[in-house]
Amino acid sequence: MKFFVDTAKIEDIKKANDMGVICGVTTNPSLIAKEGGKSQEEVLKEIAEIVDGPISGEVKATTVDAEGMIKEGREIAKLHKNMIVKIPMTVEGLKATKVLSSEGIKCNVTLIFSANQALLAARAGAAYVSPFLGRLDDISTPGIDLIQSIADIFANYPEIKTEIIAASVRNPIHVTDCALAGADIATVPYSVIEQMTKHPLTDQGIEKFQKDYIAVFGK
Ligand code: E4P
Repeated sequence: MKFFVDTAKIEDIKKANDMGVICGVTTNPSLIAKEGGKSQEEVLKEIAEIVDGPISGEVKATTVDAEGMIKEGREIAKLHKNMIVKIPMTVEGLKATKVLSSEGIKCNVTLIFSANQALLAARAGAAYVSPFLGRLDDISTPGIDLIQSIADIFANYPEIKTEIIAASVRNPIHVTDCALAGADIATVPYSVIEQMTKHPLTDQGIEKFQKDYIAVFGK
Protein backbone atom coordinates (compact mmCIF):
# COMPACT_ATOMS: atom_id res chain seq x y z
CA MET A 1 0.00 0.00 0.00
CA LYS A 2 1.24 3.46 -0.92
CA PHE A 3 0.66 6.62 1.11
CA PHE A 4 -0.69 10.02 0.22
CA VAL A 5 -0.87 12.80 2.79
CA ASP A 6 -4.38 14.13 3.32
CA THR A 7 -3.95 17.85 3.94
CA ALA A 8 -3.58 21.25 2.31
CA LYS A 9 -1.17 22.43 5.03
CA ILE A 10 2.13 23.12 3.27
CA GLU A 11 4.24 22.65 6.39
CA ASP A 12 2.80 19.13 6.97
CA ILE A 13 3.19 18.22 3.29
CA LYS A 14 6.88 19.20 3.45
CA LYS A 15 7.41 17.16 6.62
CA ALA A 16 5.72 14.06 5.15
CA ASN A 17 7.62 14.44 1.88
CA ASP A 18 10.96 14.81 3.65
CA MET A 19 10.32 11.51 5.43
CA GLY A 20 10.17 9.81 2.04
CA VAL A 21 6.98 7.93 2.81
CA ILE A 22 4.38 9.69 0.68
CA CYS A 23 3.99 9.74 -3.08
CA GLY A 24 0.94 12.00 -3.43
CA VAL A 25 -1.42 14.46 -1.76
CA THR A 26 -5.19 14.73 -1.42
CA THR A 27 -7.10 17.87 -0.56
CA ASN A 28 -10.79 18.63 -0.25
CA PRO A 29 -12.83 21.84 0.09
CA SER A 30 -12.77 21.67 3.92
CA LEU A 31 -8.99 21.23 4.01
CA ILE A 32 -8.44 24.11 1.53
CA ALA A 33 -10.80 26.34 3.55
CA LYS A 34 -8.61 25.82 6.64
CA GLU A 35 -5.62 27.42 4.89
CA GLY A 36 -6.33 31.03 5.76
CA GLY A 37 -8.18 32.13 2.63
CA LYS A 38 -5.54 31.00 0.07
CA SER A 39 -7.19 30.02 -3.21
CA GLN A 40 -7.26 26.34 -4.18
CA GLU A 41 -5.23 27.18 -7.27
CA GLU A 42 -2.53 28.80 -5.16
CA VAL A 43 -2.40 25.88 -2.71
CA LEU A 44 -2.30 23.20 -5.43
CA LYS A 45 0.52 24.98 -7.26
CA GLU A 46 2.52 25.22 -4.03
CA ILE A 47 1.98 21.51 -3.35
CA ALA A 48 3.14 20.61 -6.86
CA GLU A 49 6.45 22.35 -6.15
CA ILE A 50 7.00 20.01 -3.19
CA VAL A 51 5.60 16.60 -4.14
CA ASP A 52 6.25 14.88 -7.45
CA GLY A 53 3.20 12.63 -7.57
CA PRO A 54 -0.58 12.67 -7.90
CA ILE A 55 -2.21 15.72 -6.27
CA SER A 56 -5.99 15.72 -5.91
CA GLY A 57 -7.84 19.05 -6.13
CA GLU A 58 -11.62 18.96 -5.85
CA VAL A 59 -14.15 20.76 -8.02
CA LYS A 60 -15.95 23.57 -6.16
CA ALA A 61 -18.30 22.32 -3.44
CA THR A 62 -21.02 24.49 -4.96
CA THR A 63 -20.65 23.07 -8.48
CA VAL A 64 -23.18 20.26 -8.83
CA ASP A 65 -23.74 19.98 -12.60
CA ALA A 66 -21.59 17.88 -14.94
CA GLU A 67 -20.93 20.79 -17.28
CA GLY A 68 -19.58 22.94 -14.44
CA MET A 69 -17.45 20.09 -13.06
CA ILE A 70 -15.99 19.40 -16.51
CA LYS A 71 -15.06 23.08 -16.96
CA GLU A 72 -13.44 23.28 -13.52
CA GLY A 73 -11.79 19.88 -13.94
CA ARG A 74 -10.09 21.07 -17.12
CA GLU A 75 -8.82 24.17 -15.27
CA ILE A 76 -7.47 22.09 -12.36
CA ALA A 77 -5.74 19.73 -14.82
CA LYS A 78 -4.03 22.69 -16.49
CA LEU A 79 -2.34 23.74 -13.24
CA HIS A 80 0.27 20.95 -13.34
CA LYS A 81 0.86 17.58 -14.99
CA ASN A 82 0.33 15.78 -11.65
CA MET A 83 -3.15 17.17 -10.96
CA ILE A 84 -5.99 14.73 -10.31
CA VAL A 85 -9.54 16.08 -10.42
CA LYS A 86 -11.60 15.09 -7.43
CA ILE A 87 -15.28 14.70 -8.25
CA PRO A 88 -18.16 13.86 -5.90
CA MET A 89 -20.00 10.57 -6.37
CA THR A 90 -23.25 11.71 -7.98
CA VAL A 91 -24.90 11.06 -11.34
CA GLU A 92 -23.54 14.43 -12.55
CA GLY A 93 -20.14 13.53 -11.11
CA LEU A 94 -20.08 10.28 -13.07
CA LYS A 95 -20.96 12.14 -16.28
CA ALA A 96 -18.10 14.56 -15.65
CA THR A 97 -15.74 11.66 -14.86
CA LYS A 98 -16.60 10.01 -18.16
CA VAL A 99 -15.83 13.15 -20.17
CA LEU A 100 -12.69 14.19 -18.29
CA SER A 101 -11.26 10.65 -18.31
CA SER A 102 -11.84 10.38 -22.07
CA GLU A 103 -9.71 13.54 -22.42
CA GLY A 104 -6.88 11.89 -20.46
CA ILE A 105 -7.61 13.84 -17.26
CA LYS A 106 -7.38 11.55 -14.23
CA CYS A 107 -10.32 11.65 -11.83
CA ASN A 108 -10.61 10.67 -8.18
CA VAL A 109 -14.26 9.98 -7.39
CA THR A 110 -14.79 10.93 -3.78
CA LEU A 111 -17.41 10.51 -1.05
CA ILE A 112 -17.75 6.79 -1.77
CA PHE A 113 -19.75 4.97 0.90
CA SER A 114 -20.81 1.77 -0.90
CA ALA A 115 -19.18 -0.86 -3.08
CA ASN A 116 -21.73 -0.18 -5.83
CA GLN A 117 -20.71 3.49 -5.94
CA ALA A 118 -17.07 2.41 -6.33
CA LEU A 119 -17.93 0.00 -9.14
CA LEU A 120 -19.92 2.68 -10.98
CA ALA A 121 -17.08 5.19 -10.63
CA ALA A 122 -14.60 2.64 -11.96
CA ARG A 123 -16.81 1.94 -14.97
CA ALA A 124 -17.18 5.67 -15.63
CA GLY A 125 -13.39 5.81 -16.01
CA ALA A 126 -12.16 6.99 -12.59
CA ALA A 127 -8.43 6.55 -12.07
CA TYR A 128 -9.08 6.50 -8.31
CA VAL A 129 -12.00 5.94 -5.95
CA SER A 130 -11.99 7.31 -2.40
CA PRO A 131 -14.06 5.29 0.07
CA PHE A 132 -14.32 7.12 3.43
CA LEU A 133 -13.85 4.63 6.25
CA GLY A 134 -13.70 7.01 9.23
CA ARG A 135 -17.02 8.64 8.42
CA LEU A 136 -18.65 5.18 8.24
CA ASP A 137 -17.13 4.25 11.59
CA ASP A 138 -18.58 7.52 12.93
CA ILE A 139 -22.08 6.20 12.22
CA SER A 140 -21.33 2.79 13.74
CA THR A 141 -20.82 1.03 10.39
CA PRO A 142 -17.46 -0.71 10.02
CA GLY A 143 -15.69 1.35 7.34
CA ILE A 144 -13.03 -1.28 6.80
CA ASP A 145 -15.66 -3.71 5.44
CA LEU A 146 -16.24 -1.28 2.59
CA ILE A 147 -12.54 -1.15 1.70
CA GLN A 148 -12.42 -4.96 1.77
CA SER A 149 -15.52 -5.31 -0.43
CA ILE A 150 -14.23 -2.87 -3.04
CA ALA A 151 -10.82 -4.58 -3.11
CA ASP A 152 -12.48 -8.00 -3.53
CA ILE A 153 -14.80 -6.78 -6.29
CA PHE A 154 -12.05 -5.01 -8.25
CA ALA A 155 -9.90 -8.17 -7.96
CA ASN A 156 -12.73 -10.12 -9.66
CA TYR A 157 -12.40 -7.88 -12.73
CA PRO A 158 -8.75 -7.52 -13.70
CA GLU A 159 -9.70 -5.06 -16.46
CA ILE A 160 -10.53 -2.52 -13.74
CA LYS A 161 -7.40 -0.42 -13.29
CA THR A 162 -9.00 2.05 -10.84
CA GLU A 163 -6.95 2.40 -7.67
CA ILE A 164 -8.55 2.38 -4.23
CA ILE A 165 -7.56 5.31 -2.03
CA ALA A 166 -8.68 4.56 1.54
CA ALA A 167 -9.78 7.98 2.80
CA SER A 168 -11.07 9.44 6.05
CA VAL A 169 -8.31 7.56 7.82
CA ARG A 170 -8.24 8.56 11.47
CA ASN A 171 -5.70 6.36 13.26
CA PRO A 172 -2.85 3.84 12.78
CA ILE A 173 -5.18 0.84 13.21
CA HIS A 174 -7.15 2.09 10.19
CA VAL A 175 -3.89 2.13 8.22
CA THR A 176 -2.94 -1.46 9.07
CA ASP A 177 -6.48 -2.65 8.36
CA CYS A 178 -6.51 -0.90 4.97
CA ALA A 179 -3.23 -2.54 3.99
CA LEU A 180 -4.58 -5.95 5.02
CA ALA A 181 -7.79 -5.32 3.07
CA GLY A 182 -5.82 -4.54 -0.09
CA ALA A 183 -6.26 -0.78 -0.53
CA ASP A 184 -3.81 0.51 -3.14
CA ILE A 185 -3.25 3.77 -1.28
CA ALA A 186 -4.17 5.23 2.10
CA THR A 187 -4.47 8.99 2.30
CA VAL A 188 -3.48 9.87 5.81
CA PRO A 189 -3.36 13.10 7.86
CA TYR A 190 0.18 14.05 8.90
CA SER A 191 -0.69 13.52 12.58
CA VAL A 192 -1.47 9.86 11.84
CA ILE A 193 1.80 9.40 9.90
CA GLU A 194 3.61 10.72 13.00
CA GLN A 195 1.70 8.34 15.27
CA MET A 196 2.64 5.46 12.96
CA THR A 197 6.37 6.13 13.50
CA LYS A 198 6.09 5.69 17.24
CA HIS A 199 6.40 2.71 19.54
CA PRO A 200 7.25 2.90 23.25
CA LEU A 201 9.76 0.04 22.91
CA THR A 202 11.59 1.98 20.18
CA ASP A 203 11.95 4.96 22.53
CA GLN A 204 13.04 2.73 25.41
CA GLY A 205 15.51 0.95 23.11
CA ILE A 206 17.10 4.23 21.99
CA GLU A 207 17.35 5.38 25.60
CA LYS A 208 19.05 2.12 26.67
CA PHE A 209 21.51 2.13 23.75
CA GLN A 210 22.46 5.73 24.61
CA LYS A 211 22.87 4.93 28.33
CA ASP A 212 24.99 1.80 27.68
CA TYR A 213 27.15 3.58 25.09
CA ILE A 214 27.75 6.66 27.27
CA ALA A 215 28.61 4.48 30.29
CA VAL A 216 31.63 3.06 28.42
CA PHE A 217 32.59 5.63 25.78
CA GLY A 218 31.18 8.88 27.17
CA LYS A 219 29.32 11.37 25.02
C1 E4P B 1 -9.75 12.53 1.28
O1 E4P B 1 -9.78 12.31 0.11
C2 E4P B 1 -10.96 12.88 2.06
O2 E4P B 1 -11.49 14.08 1.64
C3 E4P B 1 -10.63 12.91 3.54
O3 E4P B 1 -9.84 11.78 3.85
C4 E4P B 1 -11.84 13.01 4.42
O4 E4P B 1 -11.46 12.82 5.76
P1 E4P B 1 -12.41 13.18 6.99
O5 E4P B 1 -13.58 12.26 6.97
O6 E4P B 1 -11.54 12.98 8.20
O7 E4P B 1 -12.82 14.62 6.80
